[in-house]
This record gives sequence, C-alpha cells and structure tokens, in this order.
Amino acid sequence: MEILFSSSREYELENFKSFFEQKSLKVRFQKESINSNTLATAFAYEVIFAFVNDCFDRANLETLAKHGLKAIFLRCAGFNNVDLEAAKELGIQVARVPSYSPEAIAEYTLALCLNLNRKIHKSYQRTREFDFRLDHLVGSNINNKVVAVLGTGKIGGLVAKYFSALGAKVIAYDKVVNPELEAMGIPYVEKEDLIASADILSFHLPLNEETHYFINQKNVFLLKPGAKIINTGRGALLETKALIEALKKAHLSGIALDVYEEEENFFFEDHSFENLQDDKLARLISFPNVIVSSHQAYLSEEALKAIADTSIDNFRYFLGGEKNHNFLV
Ligand code: NAI
Repeated sequence: MEILFSSSREYELENFKSFFEQKSLKVRFQKESINSNTLATAFAYEVIFAFVNDCFDRANLETLAKHGLKAIFLRCAGFNNVDLEAAKELGIQVARVPSYSPEAIAEYTLALCLNLNRKIHKSYQRTREFDFRLDHLVGSNINNKVVAVLGTGKIGGLVAKYFSALGAKVIAYDKVVNPELEAMGIPYVEKEDLIASADILSFHLPLNEETHYFINQKNVFLLKPGAKIINTGRGALLETKALIEALKKAHLSGIALDVYEEEENFFFEDHSFENLQDDKLARLISFPNVIVSSHQAYLSEEALKAIADTSIDNFRYFLGGEKNHNFLV
C-alpha cells in the first residue's frame, strides 16, 4: 500500500514514524499541501494522511479517485476542506481526529486574548530594542468584561470556563446548549444581542454555511465600540475586509487571529523573503492592535501525541476493513 503524508512538518513526525517503520509501510512525507497545483504529487496513493490546508474539493477528489485514492486520514478536527458528499459518492473514506486536546486550543485562545488585552506583543518588541517606556501600553482587565463565547463545544466550553475564572461575564452562543455551562449560570443569547453587548468575542464555531462570515460588512459596525475579537476557529468565520474597515475606523480595539480566511496560501511556510502578495493579510498584520499567528493553537506536545495516536487508530480500523466513530464517510 502506497501512503502519502501531505503537509508534513518535522515536529509531528516522531509520533508517526515509529508506527510506519514497525509495520514496514511505505510512506512518502511531503511538505507541500494538496491543491489544484500540487495534485499530481498525490497520484497513485491509496491513502493520504492529510492536514487542514489540503484541499479535497469535488474536482480534486474526482481526479484522485481515478488515481486510486481510497481513504483520507485527517490529522485535525475540522473537515471543511473536504467535500464529504463527493467523497461518499466516490467511495473515498474520510476519518478525522475529533478531539485531541481541546485544552491546547482553549489555553492558546486565552493566551492570545491576554496578550492582546495587555499589549504584550508590543512590549516584547520594545524591550528587545531596550525601549522601556510604557506609553501606549495601557491595557484593560478581563474581569467584569462581557465575553461572548461562540461555539460552546469541546473547545468553547473550556474557554467559557477559563474566562469565567478570570471574573468575566461570559455569554454563550450555540445551537446546542452545553449543560455544564448552563449549570454555571452562563446565559445563551441570540446573535443580535451578542453582537450588541460583547466586549470580547471568542470564536469556536466550525465553518459551515450558517457560520460563514458570521461577522461581516453588514454587522461589524453593530459591534460595541472598542470590542475585541479572538478567532482560533476558522478564518472565514470573519470577513477580513470588514475587520480591516472596523480597525481603520478604530471601531474595534483589537483582534487576535490564529486563522485567516485565505491561510492555505501562506500559513506553515516561510514568506519572509518576498513581498507578501495578499494585501488583506499584509494590512491586518500592519495594525499595532492585531496579532496574527499561523494556525498554532493546536501545537502542544500533548496535542501532537494525541493526533498521531488517534490518526493511527483510525488507520488500523481501515486496515481491518472496519470504521470507528471518527469516520465521516
Ligand atoms: P465541537 O464540535 O466540539 O464544537 C462546535 C460547536 O459549534 C458545537 O457545540 C456546535 O453545536 C456548534 N455549532 C456548529 N454549527 C453551529 C451553527 N451553525 N450555529 C451555532 N452553533 C453551531 O468542536 P471543537 O472541538 O470545539 O472545535 C471548534 C472549532 O475549532 C473546529 O471546528 C475547528 O474549526 C477549530 N479548531 C481550530 C484549531 C486551531 O489550531 N486553531 C484546532 C482545532 C479546532
């Protein structure tokens, strides 16, 4: 069996390599993501261990199916990069890692928020230049702020608890109520109320038709003046153009993003020696009150180990001709 390990990075391989060696499996590790330009690199592989920015839209899946693709093992939770309907029609199995370490993402969300709130990203830059002034570094407390947690599943549920522990007035938005949060007295609110009342919005929704551009050009100025947005969910939950407009007019006081709507063209690669071709991303990064990290929230030792363990487990089921609950197709 020929296996492709796409979008591979050195830091994740240790956990996988011993398994592949032990089973004497032939695996090609490829740094590039799968997209329409690189698709040929994935021909003739029956199995692909893939990641968030590998694009398995209908066109790519149809081509790969013709070249023998049987199964995709996503090394991530989100699956918005796979056309599941097409995969089903083409007889390609798809499995994911639904939960590996929600704590990793929740803790990182908090880190981003605290960093943004207290401008630590600016003081870090300053003190490296031996500039020890405090001008323009006045921050704000989280205590008593209205923090809206959008998506109260595994990650958002933890985020809501963490913010509560800091004394924030947490409000929640989800189509399914998380009983633990309800028991804590955290109220669930409608979208309009949330937009009007939140000081901080933290996004933990999956990307789907309903959640796409949740904050957009029509509603961004309905947010409370001075509101802050944290997004560790998926880039296209927010319309970047709308964020830029609101930042330029100082309607928003800060944004921290671990995801970006067109991240697949840039994230995980070194673009430091070229003129960045994405004007929206470049503009975002240029604001002093914006922090961008490149899909890093999941990247903890514990999470990497759990991702490998679950991916391998999913693959074992496939080898045995069976499926576990992590199979989407
Ligand atoms: P989850 O499935 O446990 O929670 C998602 C929640 O969103 C559920 O409670 C669901 O009811 C709610 N939801 C779904 N569609 C909705 C809609 N249309 N309206 C209102 N609520 C809706 O997922 P989990 O594990 O908490 O992950 C959340 C997201 O975080 C993932 O979908 C993924 O996009 C992102 N993520 C980001 C990572 C990073 O490194 N930045 C790593 C892992 C996940």
